[in-house]
Amino acid sequence: MTNIAVLVSGGGTNLQALIDAEKSGIIKNGKITLVISNNADAYALTRAKDNGIATAVITRKACGGQSAMEEKIIETLEENDIDLIVLAGFMSILSENFTGKYDHRIINIHPSLIPSFCGAGFYGLKVHEAALNKGVKVTGATVHFVNEIPDGGEIIMQKAVSVADDDTPETLQRKVMEQAEWIILPLAVEKVSKSISERKDVK
Ligand code: GRF
Repeated sequence: MTNIAVLVSGGGTNLQALIDAEKSGIIKNGKITLVISNNADAYALTRAKDNGIATAVITRKACGGQSAMEEKIIETLEENDIDLIVLAGFMSILSENFTGKYDHRIINIHPSLIPSFCGAGFYGLKVHEAALNKGVKVTGATVHFVNEIPDGGEIIMQKAVSVADDDTPETLQRKVMEQAEWIILPLAVEKVSKSISERKDVK
């Protein structure tokens, strides 16, 4: 079994999709054992608590900076025997010091078809605004491994979503979540959890 930590900052609808997928058996080789938030007010924390999942709040402010926050997160992951880290709306770019420790052990969901509309500065509604400004007729979501390049790691899964003429950044954001993110994130988490579990069994 792969122990999963989900890192969040906000509403946590992707976390909810993962919790639901574990309950329904879509995720069967992994277990969400910890949710870490860098924002004490994140609704994602309530979702975790409602489902009996341990939580930790680790903020940059309380730690005194980004690198101290990352060290605290690493310590917490180690204490909890975490095998796989899922970034689900985690609004902080992790340094190479962090990503280098977890090669092919961190995955992220990004709300576009990478390599379009990704990298530093492309987050939240900005991604969908950029897609609409470009006039693309198809967008989507991408699950990828996280390395030192923002949105630059190996792609695990993608799903396309059609753009309608009357879409706004808000309607497109919602469509991409419903039609792509909440579907492929659980599938990708199961795929990676399975391969980590198999390697653990061999040890
Ligand atoms: C999603 O759009 C995700 O792609 C992005 O941040 C948003 C998180 O939403 N990385 P939620 O907190 O999972 O509801």
